[in-house]
Amino acid sequence: MPSPVSFALIAVHSLKLSLGDRSYAILIGAGLLADQESYATLPSAPLAAIVTNDVVAPLYAQRLESVLKQRHREVVQIILPDGEAHKDWASLDRIFDVLLAHGCDRKTVLYALGGGVVGDMTGFAAACYMRGVPFVQIPTTLLAQVDSSVGGKTAINHPRGKNMIGAFYQPLLVVCDLDVLDTLPERELSAGLAEVIKYGPIADPAFLDWIETNLDALRARDKDALAYAVRRSCEIKAWVVGQDEKEAGLRAILNFGHTFGHAIEAGLGYGEWLHGEAVGCGMVMASELSARLGLMPPAFVDRMRRLIERAGLPVRGPALGAERYLELMSVDKKNEGGEIRFVVIEALGRAGVRPAPDTLVAQVIEAHSG
Ligand SMILES: NC(=O)c1ccc[n+]([C@@H]2O[C@H](COP(=O)([O-])OP(=O)(O)OC[C@H]3O[C@@H](n4cnc5c(N)ncnc54)[C@H](O)[C@@H]3O)[C@@H](O)[C@H]2O)c1
Ligand SMILES: [Zn+2]
Repeated sequence: MPSPVSFALIAVHSLKLSLGDRSYAILIGAGLLADQESYATLPSAPLAAIVTNDVVAPLYAQRLESVLKQRHREVVQIILPDGEAHKDWASLDRIFDVLLAHGCDRKTVLYALGGGVVGDMTGFAAACYMRGVPFVQIPTTLLAQVDSSVGGKTAINHPRGKNMIGAFYQPLLVVCDLDVLDTLPERELSAGLAEVIKYGPIADPAFLDWIETNLDALRARDKDALAYAVRRSCEIKAWVVGQDEKEAGLRAILNFGHTFGHAIEAGLGYGEWLHGEAVGCGMVMASELSARLGLMPPAFVDRMRRLIERAGLPVRGPALGAERYLELMSVDKKNEGGEIRFVVIEALGRAGVRPAPDTLVAQVIEAHSG
């Protein structure tokens, strides 16, 4: 791992995700969205499209359009209905319809302005349209800034499962403007913190310490604290994805807490709990599993639970029953040969992926749900 950088706000911090000729910059700072400089490295193209939703558009689309008009002759806005329920074929079709109606070609740049839902859908649309057009991520939620906008996983949902239809397709640039987090609802901020917390135990014990010390500042949206949290999270994600873009191995550690979390999301019906809320609770369960497998001391479970609770996230899963959890987890696409695979903490800062006996997993679920 690269060593943690010292805590200091740099007006604009630029990281690089290294993937050969598909490497790209991740810009982090205040006021970046409406700053012409942020987009200076992008290829020129006559047409561009801003893909966003009806919650984010009134807040930021006009500002983005004004700055992009200095780069592109025509900037089209595609405003989709908000929400995970609309991460589907209908929204994708709508994107293609507008692009075709405006004569968008292979050079047209798509700008994803929104949270992970908009980012995932726009990325997939960009991968498919004319067999691939350039796209830029402008994440507007904390979750999207620290996780979904980086790494090139794109997808839509299928009625039978989340993110089942998609592609690996990298953006040309990621622009994380910390100012847009000011309008984010409290609950969404907490959900994003779950993914920030995730990076500590899987990759960086010092970052876990830092989050514990700075959690109140993060919840109060202190810009310096947010800048560091986004930057360190993106550094770790870029480091992981740079080594294992298509999730042949290492990348799976980013799913710490997600196997349990996905079961909660699916078991309650998508949208009942936010993804980050389910992941928060899932990390408590995955920590417990790590302890019961003898990898970590019980005090680690308490530490994680306390931190997740302080982040404003639930720490007890819904009472679905262990059997239902196991059934839901067995359809996860990370499984191999019907065996459920769990990301566990093997030592602070190091994660591994392994199966576990159903009886042990059931005990873990019973201890942290209901
Ligand atoms: N591609 C990946 O690697 C990856 C990783 C993690 C999650 N995801 C996906 O990301 C999605 C979740 O992303 P999310 O948590 O950002 O949810 P989201 O995109 O639904 O955004 C959450 C809510 O906040 C609103 N919003 C966004 N920015 C705002 C702002 N600045 N001010 C006010 N409101 C704002 C949105 O309109 C929405 O209502 C899921 O679909 C998940 O599958 C993808
Ligand atoms: Zn996640």
